[in-house]
Amino acid sequence: MCGIVGFTGSQSAAPILLDGLKKLEYRGYDSAGIAVLGENGIHMEKAIGMIKNLDAKIQGGAAMSGASGIGHTRWATHGEPTDVNAHPHMSNDDKFAIVHNGIIENYAALREELKEKGFQFKSETDTEVIVHLLDLYYEGDLKKAVMKTVARLEGAYALGILCAEEQGRIIATRHAAPLILGVGVGENYFASDVTALVAHTKNVVYLEDGEIADITPENITLYNELGKEVEVKVTRIAWDIAAAEKGGYEHFMLKEIMEQPHALKSTIEPRIKDGEIVLDDFNLTDEDLKKINKVMITACGSAFYAGSVGKYVIEELCRIPVEADLASELRYRNPLVDEHTLLVVVSQSGETADTIAAMKECKARGARILAIVNVVGSTIAKLADDVVYTWAGPEIAVATTKGYTTQVAVMHMLAVYMARRLGRLTDEENKALVEDILQFPSLIQRAIDLNPNIQTLSEKYHGYNNLFFIGRNLDYAACMEGSLKLKEISYLHSEAYGAGELKHGTIALIEKGRPVIALACYERLFDKMMSNIKEVKARGAQVLAVVLEGNRQIFAEADDVIFVPRTNPLFNSLPEIVPLQLFAYYVAKANGCDIDKPKNLAKSVTVE
Ligand code: G6P
Repeated sequence: MCGIVGFTGSQSAAPILLDGLKKLEYRGYDSAGIAVLGENGIHMEKAIGMIKNLDAKIQGGAAMSGASGIGHTRWATHGEPTDVNAHPHMSNDDKFAIVHNGIIENYAALREELKEKGFQFKSETDTEVIVHLLDLYYEGDLKKAVMKTVARLEGAYALGILCAEEQGRIIATRHAAPLILGVGVGENYFASDVTALVAHTKNVVYLEDGEIADITPENITLYNELGKEVEVKVTRIAWDIAAAEKGGYEHFMLKEIMEQPHALKSTIEPRIKDGEIVLDDFNLTDEDLKKINKVMITACGSAFYAGSVGKYVIEELCRIPVEADLASELRYRNPLVDEHTLLVVVSQSGETADTIAAMKECKARGARILAIVNVVGSTIAKLADDVVYTWAGPEIAVATTKGYTTQVAVMHMLAVYMARRLGRLTDEENKALVEDILQFPSLIQRAIDLNPNIQTLSEKYHGYNNLFFIGRNLDYAACMEGSLKLKEISYLHSEAYGAGELKHGTIALIEKGRPVIALACYERLFDKMMSNIKEVKARGAQVLAVVLEGNRQIFAEADDVIFVPRTNPLFNSLPEIVPLQLFAYYVAKANGCDIDKPKNLAKSVTVE
């Protein structure tokens, strides 16, 4: 979704802002713009479509002079993607330019109020009210005007502000939308996420909700909502520039698939000490844990499917009832949640609007919140009682891969950790499970290596319009993720079904040549799956089966087979997803799709 960058220093701002916007492209956008403060005031340029359009318009930044500025990639919510609706937005007197990520919920009333006061609106956006409010409240003190402005806003915002009367000064503030400051030498930055900053600095400041940052080339001063100065806490980020670049791969998605063994190693190894799983940041006492009578898991998209894997495994090992709920559903029902509920929130970005809302709803009802998050300092990480980070590194491709597998790995660790603390595992059982978890990085590597023919296979399947994924139990959870991957990046229609549900409707759609991807790695139910495979074969389906290495029975029915390395039956959906990621990647590639930035999708869904 929308991305924001800001810079102030002694170099020309426009090329730096442009480069920052390119790093944020992966978030999803449909127009872009930059405003720079030069000797003759604010110079603003915008363009719809890809950043290369803006780049061409401003000659890579050479056409805009000034050493401070703000930039934005817009993912349209209020008003179509047009030059006028693109950010920045400027005040009628050209004194202020602003960029905004989020949604101002009370913008309609503010718009009417400001119109009555004589302000003229050019765009259809909710954002434009902010720049006119600034103009209204500015009496020579920018910080005061910002404080008065944000006090009028309801909703979510990350804001970057430029004022023609304040050379070298940029202002940043946020509420329920991400914004990070970058601390340089003689220059400072802000951005929606660290990928836009790592090329310049590894020293960052995570802005707290409501804080206002007053930024000059030499200084960053932070104020809280009441205008009181607060301490600037600088954090050193672990990611480097290579992590945010393609490193020789054709697409970020392929690079991120190949990075999975490393991502899993970083997630798992530091948390295993003397043969035990140690989740340092999960501060529930054994006594509190014993009082938990229900685990609820909530998330959106792939994170929800990672949660669905967790549901099976936690329930199996801990013998506590587990519900997995889409955040966009959970937040609008009247869930039975109290202080005996452990809510596990899963999110790569830590900024997904529905997930945040569901989490707040459950927190208000007394639930203990554990977040499984990839982005350090994100909103979800800050709101949760406990956080277990998935140390996957930056994930740039919109379709998650290493984000998902590290979430699944944490789910498995959480299940074993809780089961152990609840006294449900003997030393022997614990040892075996922990050893299996330690093998995840090499297991994933084997899943990658085992299938050099996936590209060839994808050529056989890429021409179909409708595909079905079927599976049972943990295979069903993997089906949902495999199907989502395929539809997200290849735009083929694909659906995931519990194989037992086939007879209740979907089988009506099975006809000669219909591709059915049958996941049958959960061997306890292998015979049931074989029956389902026979049912679809009898109706002409073309079956691509995904089974455990060494399974030869499958050759009797399947047209094509993908093999998955073996691990504990409870953990098999982890290696199982890898060939499906590769399958989706190669199908999308064969269909000429924009793999890293699929149409209409955004990496971080910060609006409802
Ligand atoms: C978007 C992304 C998905 C992701 C989902 C949830 O739809 O494209 O890859 O699974 O949001 O995002 P989160 O950041 O909360 O995991």
